[in-house]
Amino acid sequence: MSKRSVVLFGLMIAGLFALAACADPAQPTATPNTSINPTAAPSGNPTATPSGQATVAPTEAPSGPDASAGQSVFTTNCAACHNTSDQQLVGPGLAGIGERAGTRVSGQSADDYLRASIQAPGEFIVEGFQPIMPAFPQISDGDLDNLIAYLMTLE
Ligand code: HEC
Repeated sequence: MSKRSVVLFGLMIAGLFALAACADPAQPTATPNTSINPTAAPSGNPTATPSGQATVAPTEAPSGPDASAGQSVFTTNCAACHNTSDQQLVGPGLAGIGERAGTRVSGQSADDYLRASIQAPGEFIVEGFQPIMPAFPQISDGDLDNLIAYLMTLE
């Protein structure tokens, strides 16, 4: 009798362990849920960091070539001889010059050609025109960059 009850008791204990063992995995299942939340929180922070860098980039952009500042350089120095349409004045109309500039002299990019056109106009003479365009050493490097940015916008 006593041996049986020991065995039964033992089985009951084993059963309790089994229940406890079953109950335990339920808790670890809950634990990963909690660990998902911390994962979401750090992912919010890296998202904020790039957006902070993106805010810096537009701030730098205006310090680059400024086409609208270039427009006033053009009005002051060039408009007497150049239309921004395709109509000829003293010099050729400059509509579409941004695209044409890259095809004028082989090996010269649009930017190179425009720089040369302004600083050493005698290097390349547009067919049908007299070589009367003066050079513009008085235009500063910054104004020249702005002026070229403006010329590139002409369509
Ligand atoms: C006195 C008149 C005169 C002024 C001022 C002048 N240009 Fe010219 N420009 C010309 C003439 C004429 C030509 C065509 C002959 C040649 O290629 O040099 C020309 C040619 C050009 C070309 C080449 C166009 C092409 O189709 O390849 C560019 C670009 C140009 N000028 C830009 C300018 C800019 C920018 C200014 C102001 C900084 C300016 N010019 C001021 C008379 C002028």
